[in-house]
Amino acid sequence: MRIPLRAAALALACALGACTPAGPAAPSPRPAPLDSLARAGLDFAASQYRRAAAAGDPARGYPRSTTPDGTWSTIRINDWTSGFFPGTLWYLYAYTRDPELRAQAERWTLPLADIPKGKYSHDLGFQFNTSFVNAYRFTGDDRFRAPALNAAGLLAARFNPTVGAIKSWDWTDPKRPYPVIVDNMMNLELLYWGAGHGGDAGWKPLAATHARTTQTNHVRADGGSFHVVVFDPATGAALERITHQGYADSSTWARGQAWLVYGFTLSFRETGDPRFLATARRVADYALARLPADAVPCWDYQAPGCPATAERDASAAAIMASGLLEMSTYVPGADGARYRGAAERILTSLSSPACLARGTGQPTVLLHSVGNHPKSQEIDVGLNYADYYYVEALLRYLELRGLRPQQVMPRRAR
Ligand code: GLY
Repeated sequence: MRIPLRAAALALACALGACTPAGPAAPSPRPAPLDSLARAGLDFAASQYRRAAAAGDPARGYPRSTTPDGTWSTIRINDWTSGFFPGTLWYLYAYTRDPELRAQAERWTLPLADIPKGKYSHDLGFQFNTSFVNAYRFTGDDRFRAPALNAAGLLAARFNPTVGAIKSWDWTDPKRPYPVIVDNMMNLELLYWGAGHGGDAGWKPLAATHARTTQTNHVRADGGSFHVVVFDPATGAALERITHQGYADSSTWARGQAWLVYGFTLSFRETGDPRFLATARRVADYALARLPADAVPCWDYQAPGCPATAERDASAAAIMASGLLEMSTYVPGADGARYRGAAERILTSLSSPACLARGTGQPTVLLHSVGNHPKSQEIDVGLNYADYYYVEALLRYLELRGLRPQQVMPRRAR
């Protein structure tokens, strides 16, 4: 959000204290408990997504981000974000058990089975974990398993054992032959799941190796991160450490850091390797030490004008909140409580009128995300993945509070 262009919204935001570049606002004398904010957020999400699902048509395109006229821009199934719209419908079905939401979730999931027929990349993890794996988890219907396993196999085939990582983009620049991005930590979830659901058992150590390579090469000594490391596929040597969506090669892109918080937490969940939990904590500590007073990060932790005027990225906030909530369950004592408190602070901020789209005419759940600032794309917009991780985090929160009849979110087996 840019203050000068949004004076009216800023006044409201300052009054309510969230998603505002201007920093802290006076705390409400009687803050609403997050329990009721969480339910209200999920109810609002259900109404927004019911409407969009019924009005849209998968053959015409999948909702991705908001436009200034208050509609969804849409993408084809091979876009990296195509799984998030059906994935949110599955979460909302898990929350409401509404058969209409289930029917819509199926309708928007099944066409994604064709993704492997087109151009695909490491994003298969984002696309299938959100859609088919959630569908399988929430329905037990075996129809959803095979497409997810097929995608996991294609993802695993992008692994180079010399590098010890899955290749991200298929860049054509010969000087940049093998880019690996921090976002890829999220795609490992499909491999861990597949290894335990009828796929190749070798996908699990492969995913863990990728996580180790990321730990060694992308995470800096101070806990910040490089977005992209370019490797030599013949030797495994790291050739270059750069950014694609951050402010500078040496800065820390906020959503990338959130992918790492969540990604190392899930690698700990799936492997029990304490080094992954230690790294999840280190990258989380870096981010938490740099959060603005409204608990929603600037799009890059070193963005010019942060925190006074730089745009906030609600998607990074939502991803981090969900990762922190899970991580808090693995960290005993005061530190675990600290991570949970930070997640609750973020969710309270995201659930305020300054961040929610309620009453704005926008079709998303959350406002104020940044897709790709350096490329001037999707700045201060609603994004389908911000909504997905916000809804997920609220479900996790209600589960941790014991306010859900069933546990649906993945958790480390004890
Ligand atoms: N995976 C791409 C992004 O986070 O923008």
